[in-house]
Amino acid sequence: MDDATERSERIADLLDRLTLEEKVSLTHGAVDPAGNATGYVPGVDRLGIPELRLADGPLGVRTEDPATAFPASISLAATFDPDLAREQGRAMAREALARDQDVLLAPGLNLIRVPHNGRNFEYYSEDPVVSGRFAAGVVSGIHDEDVIATPKHFVANNQESHRAEVSAEVDERVLRELYLPAFRDAVAAGAGALMTAYNRINGTYASEHERLLREVLKGEWDFDGVVMSDWFGTQFTADTANGGLDLQMPGVRPDEQLESDGTADAEDDGDDSADTSDGVAERFADGLPDPERGDYFSDALQSAVESGEVPEERLDDMVARLLGQAERVGLFDGDRGEGAVDTPDHRDLAERIAVNGTVLLENDGVLPLADDADVALIGPNVDEAITGGGGSSETEPVVSTSPVEGVEARAEGAVTVERGHERIVPVTLLDAIHGDQGDDEADDEDVDRDAAVAAAADADVAVVFVRDTATEAADRGDLRLAGEQDDLVEAVAAANDRTVVVVGSSGPVELPWREDVAAVLQTWYPGQAHGDAAAAVLYGDADPGGRLPVTFAPEPDYPTAGDERRYPGVDYEAHYDEGLLVGYRHFDAAGVDPTYPFGHGDSYAEFRYGDAEVTGDRTVHVDVENASDRDGREVVQAYVAAPEAPDDLERPPRELAGFAAVEVPAGESRTVELTLDERALGRYDADEGWTVDDGEFTVHVGRSSRDLRDSVTIER
Ligand code: GLC
Repeated sequence: MDDATERSERIADLLDRLTLEEKVSLTHGAVDPAGNATGYVPGVDRLGIPELRLADGPLGVRTEDPATAFPASISLAATFDPDLAREQGRAMAREALARDQDVLLAPGLNLIRVPHNGRNFEYYSEDPVVSGRFAAGVVSGIHDEDVIATPKHFVANNQESHRAEVSAEVDERVLRELYLPAFRDAVAAGAGALMTAYNRINGTYASEHERLLREVLKGEWDFDGVVMSDWFGTQFTADTANGGLDLQMPGVRPDEQLESDGTADAEDDGDDSADTSDGVAERFADGLPDPERGDYFSDALQSAVESGEVPEERLDDMVARLLGQAERVGLFDGDRGEGAVDTPDHRDLAERIAVNGTVLLENDGVLPLADDADVALIGPNVDEAITGGGGSSETEPVVSTSPVEGVEARAEGAVTVERGHERIVPVTLLDAIHGDQGDDEADDEDVDRDAAVAAAADADVAVVFVRDTATEAADRGDLRLAGEQDDLVEAVAAANDRTVVVVGSSGPVELPWREDVAAVLQTWYPGQAHGDAAAAVLYGDADPGGRLPVTFAPEPDYPTAGDERRYPGVDYEAHYDEGLLVGYRHFDAAGVDPTYPFGHGDSYAEFRYGDAEVTGDRTVHVDVENASDRDGREVVQAYVAAPEAPDDLERPPRELAGFAAVEVPAGESRTVELTLDERALGRYDADEGWTVDDGEFTVHVGRSSRDLRDSVTIER
């Protein structure tokens, strides 16, 4: 297979002049002398080849210094506005440049197959079209600013349980129709790098999966960028290089890293933190890779090339891909922007995403709040912004507003604050592993449930902020809120029938009290602007613009529930036996009503739909009228139902094919045009590839997967 990349004259010349040792040094990471990057590839001074610095992550630039903490990726997806994704990509890239980083290890875009997955907050959706539109948006934005984007984790990294060993047992059609499309879209958007997953796919590790890396990614999709491993996510030398991996990360053994950190002796003198880290690392052992997988691409690779086990052409291609991306973003010429961190625009963007990602799940009319309402503000963590979950995406903001700060700044009535529940301790995986577990102990001082209930009884409205906890390297044990927060909500709702609950979660959560409260807002992990964004929506300064990018349902109703073969797997094999029926596809096919369907989200306005029309092959038009006296934001969605399929051919009842968010002023109408995904009518046939069957396709248009307002047909 010829998947070698095109080379400029400069790169071809450099390859001619590089020694074998120098070429090998460009295929693996090393210790960053500045100590500020997540990953580092030294240059070759002799030839003017620049060094490359890599930093996480999807929620913001993670270095020793603070940066804008954007809302979680699932919150960005809930906006159903890929333009915001591109804006965020640009902003994060500018912040990367300001922090002297060249590669952003973002976006994370694995499909949300399992509601318990500890990293769902870092991903977009249960649907491949939503995931692909947002992945492409973020990638485009990052590259707009001459930083290299790294879509991750390729592919089928849909759980944290046993993530370094588990094999996703998934058939080709399901891979092609559900798990690969968003990566394809990210590559089509111009991603300069891609990170392989820790897991195996049908028994082969992602980092050495020749068919997926060389035939599909580099062959079919013509990817000319760099394929890097996840950190310590490599197992072999020749098989991995020949399988299509170009860059092994971090490429540093723990002893080398400790030496460079100056903490090597901590291991020897029995330092407590090391013991703590062992203890905590034990807790995450199931989801952490073996850090001894350090250097398959240094001396071992050189020997493999010298022996011919790895052709030198393959080594040259590995190096050419890296240098080609460095050249593409101007690293040789040093003419890139200097970037900027924590600008007013970035702060404003973080808030806009949080507001537009907020989903109004229930509202009996209590929202929006009157400016002068007396409010009881309750919740275990009301005095802190939720800036994300645990793990490599942890981002420390320069500024943040807590729910207390946001509501107190906006309210004109009295605000009484009572936590009513001990603090929920978020998991900070990185601190935990490095034994720096700071003040993350639950403190039960000034926690008085009765005082919270009394404050609720005395106020016009009670607003309860609740949350879950989630982290990389571990899945959630259930879909409940953490601690006894459900009891807190029930007690407050019993004291005041105008109780609003604001949920900060990593993905689907069970809300057992939802029929006992007056309103429910879903804010995900809203990032640094948590308080201001929540206040803007609570008081109606903005319409809750979000829609659910994942289905909310009782835990037992999900397709991966109750079958450990499916999840978390048996003998390190997770069998994707649900096939295409993930998320709403499952609930529609099973005829089961979820708690809140995919695409659901109410508005403070009221939208009426005109008749839908279709023009050309894939463009649907529909008029949307705002029949209320308030400006509103609507997300129009189009779902395709294929013609009756032959019995042996599984097709979900409906599949999202397009969507658009639109602002509609009070009393006005807008014509919304939806361009359906190019493969909206197709299915993947293992022999024929992408195939469109003959027959009548029905395109349903509406405001969620279950609230469909009109339909049109397309004849093929
Ligand atoms: C982690 C994550 C990956 C991250 C990398 C570097 O293990 O899986 O998303 O970019 O290591 O921190």
